[in-house]
Amino acid sequence: RILIIDFGSQVTQLIARRVREAGVYSEIVPFQSAESAFHDMKPKAVILSGGPASTTEMGSPRAPKAIYDAGIPVLGICYGEQTMCAELGGAVEAGNHREFGRAYIEVKEKSPLFEGVWDIGTRHQVWMSHGDRVTALPEGFRVIATSEGAPFAAIADEARRFYAVQFHPEVVHTPDGARLLRNFVHGIAGCAGDWTMASFREDAKARIRAQVGDGKVICGLSGGVDSAVAAVLIHEAIGDQLTCIFVDHGLMRMNEAEQVVSLFRNHYNIPLVHVDAADTFIDALEGETDPEVKRKTIGRLFIEVFEAEAKKIGGAQFLAQGTLYPDVIESVSFTGGPSVTIKSHHNVGGLPERMNMALVEPLRELFKDEVRALGRELGLPEAFVGRHPFPGPGLAIRCPGGITRAKLDILRQADAIYLDEIRKAGLYDAIWQAFAVLLPVQTVGVMGDGRTYEYVCALRAVTSIDGMTADFYHYDMEFLSRAATRIINEVKGINRVVYDVTSKPPGTIEWE
Ligand code: XMP
Repeated sequence: RILIIDFGSQVTQLIARRVREAGVYSEIVPFQSAESAFHDMKPKAVILSGGPASTTEMGSPRAPKAIYDAGIPVLGICYGEQTMCAELGGAVEAGNHREFGRAYIEVKEKSPLFEGVWDIGTRHQVWMSHGDRVTALPEGFRVIATSEGAPFAAIADEARRFYAVQFHPEVVHTPDGARLLRNFVHGIAGCAGDWTMASFREDAKARIRAQVGDGKVICGLSGGVDSAVAAVLIHEAIGDQLTCIFVDHGLMRMNEAEQVVSLFRNHYNIPLVHVDAADTFIDALEGETDPEVKRKTIGRLFIEVFEAEAKKIGGAQFLAQGTLYPDVIESVSFTGGPSVTIKSHHNVGGLPERMNMALVEPLRELFKDEVRALGRELGLPEAFVGRHPFPGPGLAIRCPGGITRAKLDILRQADAIYLDEIRKAGLYDAIWQAFAVLLPVQTVGVMGDGRTYEYVCALRAVTSIDGMTADFYHYDMEFLSRAATRIINEVKGINRVVYDVTSKPPGTIEWE
């Protein structure tokens, strides 16, 4: 086990992720509670994260002294290097040596940290992000690599097995970083590397049991991967103490609601309340054209319907959510405890406060691809696990200019044909998200010998890593032509198809 002490870097979770990828279990604790966590956990090694503070300021955070006296390896990253130096008798200088972004370091000495990765005298790309820098080393340390802006880019006290780097090995812009971290946890710390998603599953179940005891838990299913994985995991842990509530707002894609219900009821045998609230949602949305009002209406109704169902079930003290790490920016506040900010798009963000229930969030530490891996581990069907992201407000925001049941029907059919063609062409997994949009515009066409006056359907497909930026997918024209022809022939109400070639920015992925 590895203990990661968080000094508030935006990328601390990536350290944990790299350690997991090396097959080693790790836990992140904020620096304020590091001392007790260290004594409880008895880790085989400690990693100190980066952070926004400056060791030259009064009251800036430090790692507990005990970690340096325990005879275990310690790795400091960025601020972690600086605090390590400040604590062990070196010196750190503030400002004026800022290095942000790509930098090159030169390896000066052989070290187990570089074993099999970097040789003496070679230069390598790393990612830097620091204002302060170390100017004098504590006793016992030697410089093992330098960069132009950081003469102490990597340092080591091999006897005590203390290592520190000014750059960020956890980010992908340090191409060899993952291998350096692997060297630290395997070679230096001696961890076996046999931790897997199967171990995560067992650990997570134990944590859920410990948190929940014999209490009752309710979990909202959205039809997406995250809430499904959370629900299946929790059900494995506590069985029928869990009840799932699926608020069906009537804005799902073709057959999707049925699939969710059948998967949970028939395949997993998990208690599920299926609330068919389509009329409530669609009646409230009818005639509404403002996208933000649509979102707010859907969010508010969702909470109301969910709350009413939860009351009927009665007696639940816990609310389970499939929150992932990217949904949570956990920043360490230097005055109080860690504070949590939820990113936007969290449609049901108000639910926990409103219902005054404790949260069960077993996926909080995971990234999307790790949740998918866990989903596979739990036996969720591949088609479910690999699904494109789908927005909480569903088709309502893919039907600009006011929704009606008839328009939703048309959109659902066009979308199903489009996705079918994408799957047939083997393109589904190469695309981050693909969907049809029904425009509130009718145009003239000719079919057979008759004039038509029907809706325009826009097709969208993007590639993306995280949904923050995106490029439109570059289909070949044959594919587009095939999809368009099928949609126009098979869907009554559409006589024209266009393809959206906007990237994000300046566009967004959804049209509303
Ligand atoms: P945009 O359109 O902002 O979308 O580029 C980025 C990602 O977020 C999804 N999205 C939403 N998800 N509620 C959600 O749960 C929303 O209101 C919402 N709006 C957009 C979108 O599908 C894409 O994956």
